[in-house]
Amino acid sequence: MGTYAMTGGATGIGAAVKEQLREAGHEVIVVDVKDADILADLATPEGRRTAIDAIRERAPEGLEGFIPCAGVGPSVSPPSKITRINYFGTVELVEALEPLVARKRGCMVLLSSNSAPMGSDARYVDACLAGDEEAATARADEIGDGQNAYGGSKLAVTRWMRRHSTAYAKDGVRMNAVAPGITRTPLTEHVMADEKLGAAIRSFGESVPTGQIGVPRQLANVITFLLSPAADFMCGSVVFVDGGHDAMLRPDDF
Ligand SMILES: NC(=O)c1ccc[n+]([C@@H]2O[C@H](COP(=O)([O-])OP(=O)(O)OC[C@H]3O[C@@H](n4cnc5c(N)ncnc54)[C@H](O)[C@@H]3O)[C@@H](O)[C@H]2O)c1
Repeated sequence: MGTYAMTGGATGIGAAVKEQLREAGHEVIVVDVKDADILADLATPEGRRTAIDAIRERAPEGLEGFIPCAGVGPSVSPPSKITRINYFGTVELVEALEPLVARKRGCMVLLSSNSAPMGSDARYVDACLAGDEEAATARADEIGDGQNAYGGSKLAVTRWMRRHSTAYAKDGVRMNAVAPGITRTPLTEHVMADEKLGAAIRSFGESVPTGQIGVPRQLANVITFLLSPAADFMCGSVVFVDGGHDAMLRPDDF
């Protein structure tokens, strides 16, 4: 059985991934701000460093996989906090842990979103991809729109994954992303309760082509599949798991 590390395993999609992996007999090292093996705030460079050091210490022989699930939604303020957690809290850990995953010829599954292609500020996305946390967070707050910060952070994570999947594959690491649609988790409940964004997200939830919003298990099913040998020819893929919303909104964008 393997050893996996993940972030954001306390609730929602991450908790479902953690449960499925543990049920299959794997060891799962969880980083989160609560209910975790390693308590660390991925919004800060110190928290990221704590997480990386503690994972290295717990899995010196390597990791079968790493799944950075930690994230916050568009209702979080200031918008720069979304950038710090969703983009820099993902990419910094992925880069630091790649050698550990390569040692076991393992897999990574990153969390995109079906809001990634919905339009965000190009300067913001480019600053993320340039690794310039100061410029990216300043731009996020200058625009002052959580939806832009959120969608842009997920677009940047996805582009980052696509740009690095070839080099990672040469090291033996298969890296893919899942792009969830609206899924019932504490993140979504937070957005639904938001004064500005609540009405729009509720009506978005009513328009899912398959009829209802997702549940964490449906996302975990696909994430654990991507981690498994059954997906051993999948690399650099972005898999939309959204009840058909992306196809509905962008039918010809392919
Ligand atoms: N729920 C959705 O509709 C949806 C849609 C698209 C993408 N996603 C993505 O899926 C991932 C999981 O989200 P979820 O919906 O399960 O949300 P969630 O709120 O249930 O889970 C997020 C987890 O991240 C942790 N976390 C938050 N801030 C952190 C920080 N600073 N440091 C460490 N851990 C932190 C939380 O404690 C929690 O355990 C996120 O990356 C999210 O952007 C979710």
